[in-house]
Formats: sequence, structure tokens, C-alpha cells
Amino acid sequence: MRGLVAALVLAGAVASPYRPSFDHQTQTYTVSHKPVSVDGSINLELFFSPDHSIDTITNLIQQAPDGSRIDIGTPSMDSWVGCTYGDSGCQGCNVTGMRGETFPVFPAILNAAHQRSVSFRIISNNYNTPTCEGQIAPFDWLALQSNIEVRYFASVTFLHEKYVQVVPPAGTPGVNGSASGRKGAVSSVNWSRTSFTKNREAGVVLVGKGGGEEELLDALTAVFEDDWSRTTPYTVNNTYSPSEMSVITSPAALPVTIPSPPSIPGEFVTPVPTVFSTSASSTSGVFVSPDYSMDTLLADLNTTQSSLEIHIYQVTDDTLCDKIEELFNNGVNVTLLASSAIYSYYDKNGARYCYKRLYDAGMSIRLTPSFFTYSHQKYWIIDGKKLGLSTGNWSPTDFNWPMPGQSGTYPAFPDPDWQDANRDLQFFTTDAGVIQRFRQVLNNDYEQGTDYTTSW
Ligand SMILES: *[C@@H]1O[C@H](CO)[C@@H](O)[C@H](O)[C@H]1NC(C)=O
Ligand SMILES: *[C@@H]1O[C@H](CO)[C@@H](O)[C@H](O)[C@H]1NC(C)=O
Ligand SMILES: *[C@@H]1O[C@H](CO)[C@@H](O)[C@H](O)[C@H]1NC(C)=O
Ligand SMILES: *[C@@H]1O[C@H](CO)[C@@H](O)[C@H](O)[C@H]1NC(C)=O
Ligand SMILES: *[C@@H]1O[C@H](CO)[C@@H](O)[C@H](O)[C@H]1NC(C)=O
Ligand SMILES: *[C@@H]1O[C@H](CO)[C@@H](O)[C@H](O)[C@H]1NC(C)=O
Repeated sequence: MRGLVAALVLAGAVASPYRPSFDHQTQTYTVSHKPVSVDGSINLELFFSPDHSIDTITNLIQQAPDGSRIDIGTPSMDSWVGCTYGDSGCQGCNVTGMRGETFPVFPAILNAAHQRSVSFRIISNNYNTPTCEGQIAPFDWLALQSNIEVRYFASVTFLHEKYVQVVPPAGTPGVNGSASGRKGAVSSVNWSRTSFTKNREAGVVLVGKGGGEEELLDALTAVFEDDWSRTTPYTVNNTYSPSEMSVITSPAALPVTIPSPPSIPGEFVTPVPTVFSTSASSTSGVFVSPDYSMDTLLADLNTTQSSLEIHIYQVTDDTLCDKIEELFNNGVNVTLLASSAIYSYYDKNGARYCYKRLYDAGMSIRLTPSFFTYSHQKYWIIDGKKLGLSTGNWSPTDFNWPMPGQSGTYPAFPDPDWQDANRDLQFFTTDAGVIQRFRQVLNNDYEQGTDYTTSW
């Protein structure tokens, strides 16, 4: 038994007992991506689940000009027709079933690849969930297309970013002057039906029109290229007959059906996203987890004078929970609106521990409305003047430091100094218009929420 456990540990199959099993990085990761910030106007749009993330992400792909390159980072990809089954056993559907996938991003990717020569690079995690014999899973299907590459994340423990960037070919008609026509989405939206259509989620699309957003898109591309260079191959383990292969690789257009926003009584319905420019006097930027994420966030929180508003899935990190308590004790008006439902029992215990502590210190905490399956967004506003948005939570996997003495590195599992660290992306801005839009969602969800009590 001991031998079996040791073998599994060495194979990277056993990680934290609290997260599904997945492969880890095989090489030490050195912290290298510094925060990037730009002064002046940037172009962007904002989107929120459950109203407008499925149309935003599907349209990003459907509207990519001919010959574009699209880079995608996603923790996972759940079928909407039952061709993936979570984290254990085998998964897949027969070819007919998989071809009928209704998650609209799936046919949108295939149509773009087949009909508009769009090429894709997709990074996701390896959960070691095999495809059942004789069946096919979503990533198998994509990996079998000639201009779609699927690879496994291996930079740090887990890819937790939700990222799509569209890069049109240089000289595309309609992309003017210095405008790149690039579009880059960073959000909390998992590729699952729940996340797109039943949760509260929040995201931003940087729209490359020759403003400061170009530099931020460059920074996101640099992170993606770095991660891409460290990926491990995705292997399609099953073989398919020539007739099945002709269905799988058929260039025929597939139907793309974008569901309408749900109708949820009491929900604050977010507006249809539109592209706008932030003010010339604003500053915006991006930073990356793990790298300088904790230092950057703490430095921002250290500037807080009067108010801190947090709308987040969960706070489970001790350092950040301490910081909230310290700010509260120093007279800062702290609004904490946290998800009433938490998927992982382990995470819920961590959140319970933090919220109880804050409550005992005299702070009131609000839980999000139960008409969302999860309130999975992650954003915060400091002094009403600076918004931060993340693909990750205020949790130890999402914001952390390299261990002391490790000279800015994350040693690979199962090194004794190995840490469970995610790749996450953060966006921030001081633009008043952006802040007002996020605050409107926070305030409305706050009104529909309930007070936290220690029985939660
Ligand atoms: C989002 O996806 C991540 C990675 O697959 C998973 O760990 C997490 O439980 C999901 N969260 C929700 C609320 O769906
Ligand atoms: C594929 O799977 C579906 C649903 O499980 C089933 O109804 C259908 O008969 C299968 N088709 C083939 C060709 O096996
Ligand atoms: C293919 O097999 C390898 C080795 O067993 C495994 O690590 C990998 O996850 C499998 N890939 C898929 C898509 O099932
Ligand atoms: C390019 O410039 C023309 C003329 O100024 C304008 O009508 C068009 O909308 C611009 N296209 C884009 C994609 O910005
Ligand atoms: C934040 O403030 C604390 C004191 O409360 C200090 O110890 C810490 O170094 C500061 N961190 C950053 C990143 O500025
Ligand atoms: C604290 O912030 C909340 C939300 O912005 C606001 O409604 C409330 O009036 C503030 N309280 C004080 C004492 O400033």
C-alpha cells in the first residue's frame, strides 16, 4: 500500500487531498512576469454571467477575422450534452453524440477553424481522466483538427485563468492604423454551463484599438507564450475509423445556438456589453499569479484610506483575511459580499474560518443571493478609486509568495518546498466609469443577499 501511494505521488497523481487529481509542472518555475500598468485611455468592454458571458465569449470566436490566431487558457471544458463526467472514471460520447455538442463555444471553434482558417492554441489541465474506449471527448475532437493545437499546462500546479485572445492577421481590412483588432478576455467564467448561465461571474474584454490596451494585450500574450513553451502534449488515446474521422474533421458548418439570458426573478440583469474608452486620466494594468500577485495585491490594499468593497466567491487565505481585519480595525469601511454557496467542502471550511473571525471582530458580512448557483466573480474596489478583477479567489492557491529561501521560484512537485500554486490573471483600473459599472452589480447583488451569521 505504501509503495502504491509512493508510486502515485511520484507520478504526480496525488496532490492536495482537497483538489481533483491533475498533473503538475515538471520543472521549477521562476517568477518572471512583472505587473504592467499603462497611464491613459484603454478600450474595453465588461461582461457578467448569467446574462452576457456566453454571447460575449462565443461572439469573440465567431467574429474573429479570417486567418486569426486564437489563444485559449481554460481550467477545463465541460460538455453541455453529457460527454464529460467530472473528475473520475472515463468520459466521452460516441462520435454522433459529440458532434451534437450544444456548448456554443465548441462548434464556434470548429467553424472558425474550418471555414475561416482560424488557428487555435488551447491550454488546459491534465486531470488524468481517460476517454472511454470507443468514445471521444471534447478536447480529443478539437485536437484531431489540423489547425487546433491542444496542450496541457505545466508551468505551475494548476491553470486557473479563464482567458481568450483573438489576434487577427496583420493588415486585416478594417483594422486601422495602429489598431491591432486584437481582443483579449479575462474573466472568472469556467467553461461549464453553470458558470455561463447560472452563476454570477465577471469579466473584461480588452479591445485593441491602438490605445493603452495594446500594451496589456502584449503582456497577456507574453504570459501565454511562456506557458505554451512549457506545456506537455495532449494525447488522443483512442483511434477512430476512417468514417468516424470524416465526421470528426468534416468542414461542414455546425449550428451555434447562443442561449438567451436566463430570466431569474429578482436578479439584477447586467446590460449588453459595449466597447468604451476609459478616461485619459486613468491608469490600468494587468498582473499574474503566482509571480508578483500577492505583493501587488497587498501593496494596493495597503493604500486603503476609507473604503474597501469586495465581491468575491471566497476569501480563504490567512494573509488576506488578516489584512481585511486590520483595515477594518483601522476604521476602513469594509463591504464583503461573498458567495453563499461554495462547491468545495474544504474551501467552505476555509471561508467559514475567515468570516467567523471577521464577524467576531465586529465586521458585518453579506452572502450573495441564492438564485445564483454560485457567485463566482472576483473583484474589489479600493477607496472607490481602484478596481481589481481576478480569475482567482483570495485563496492561498491564487495569491501566494514563493517560499523563503527559494529565490523567487516554485519548485516542481514533489519537491519538499513544492506549493500548490495556480496561474491566474488580474486586471485593474482607476477609471470611474468601469468602477461605477462593477459597483452597480455589487450593490444590487448586495440588496438581494442575506446577512452572514455564524451558523453558515
Ligand atoms: C471552476 O473551475 C475550477 C477548475 O475546473 C474548479 O476547481 C471550480 O470548482 C469551478 N468552480 C465553480 C464554481 O464552478
Ligand atoms: C450514440 O450514442 C447515443 C446516445 O448515447 C445513442 O442513442 C446512439 O445510438 C449512439 N450511436 C451509435 C452509432 O452508436
Ligand atoms: C492518454 O493516456 C495517457 C497515459 O495513460 C494519459 O496520461 C492521458 O491523460 C490520456 N489522455 C486522454 C485524453 O485520455
Ligand atoms: C477604420 O477607419 C474607418 C474610417 O475612419 C472607420 O469607418 C472604421 O470603422 C475603422 N475600422 C475600425 C475597425 O476601427
Ligand atoms: C503592507 O503593510 C504591511 C504593514 O501593515 C507591511 O508589513 C507590508 O510589508 C506591506 N506590504 C506591501 C506589499 O506593501
Ligand atoms: C460603508 O459603505 C457602504 C457601501 O458603499 C455605504 O452604503 C455605507 O454608507 C458606508 N458606511 C459609512 C459609515 O461610511
